[in-house]
Amino acid sequence: MKKIIIANWKMNPQSAKEAERLFRAVAQGIRGVKNVDVIIAPPFVYLESLNAISYKLQVHFGAQDCFWEDRGAYTGEISPVTLKTLGVRYVIVGHSERRAHLGETDEMINKKIKAALKAGLIPVVCIGERERNHLEDTLLFLKGQLKKDFDGIKPSAAKKIIVAYEPIWAIGTGKAENSDDAQKIAVYIKRVLQELLNAKAALAIRIIYGGSVSAKNAASFVKGGVRGMEGLLVGGASLQADEFVKIVRSVALQK
Ligand code: 13P
Repeated sequence: MKKIIIANWKMNPQSAKEAERLFRAVAQGIRGVKNVDVIIAPPFVYLESLNAISYKLQVHFGAQDCFWEDRGAYTGEISPVTLKTLGVRYVIVGHSERRAHLGETDEMINKKIKAALKAGLIPVVCIGERERNHLEDTLLFLKGQLKKDFDGIKPSAAKKIIVAYEPIWAIGTGKAENSDDAQKIAVYIKRVLQELLNAKAALAIRIIYGGSVSAKNAASFVKGGVRGMEGLLVGGASLQADEFVKIVRSVALQK
């Protein structure tokens, strides 16, 4: 299956002009790359203008969040249905920065996953522990998050869902997870999903890794095929076109 690399630009860059420049540089750099799906998740306000210049380019779009209702009196929120009309295919849900700064709970995230699926978007569900002491504790914590986030999700929706494992201690710190533990965690997440849904559904859900991904370490996370991470969620490094292009190209070389 194709690997997936999502660029989470977070609250960057600060102008549409810069966003366009970055987007063009990335699109140019990944020309001709096969077997990797590249998704750019810019701030909402750039989605329309970037989509307008994406014709014939090998990129898809993602949003960084959505609301759980389709329409109505929810000041400041963005409907998943609106995102769909803007050409968005993916939506990041439950990013740890939203959990931490905006008080998003697993219950809210669960509603967002359901709303995204209903609107025909692919939710990228973020989970991850704050600190790492023992791997066993991390696994239990992740299980707890998955249980709540996937409550009431039907196995038939599985192939439309991505789970992003992003340990909070690795985000923006330059200290990425080691690839062996990342692989163990990918296998464990699949096992939990098998319990929560079923074996077929667990196999269909792609697990990706995020947290200080760089051109140096990117390939190490995806080398395990379906038994490892099947893609990456990239923050800081996705704002430097050269570095991000190197990440995409190094992953494209993996089987
Ligand atoms: P960094 O790649 O900057 O560590 O951020 C990861 C992340 O939060 C992507 O969603």
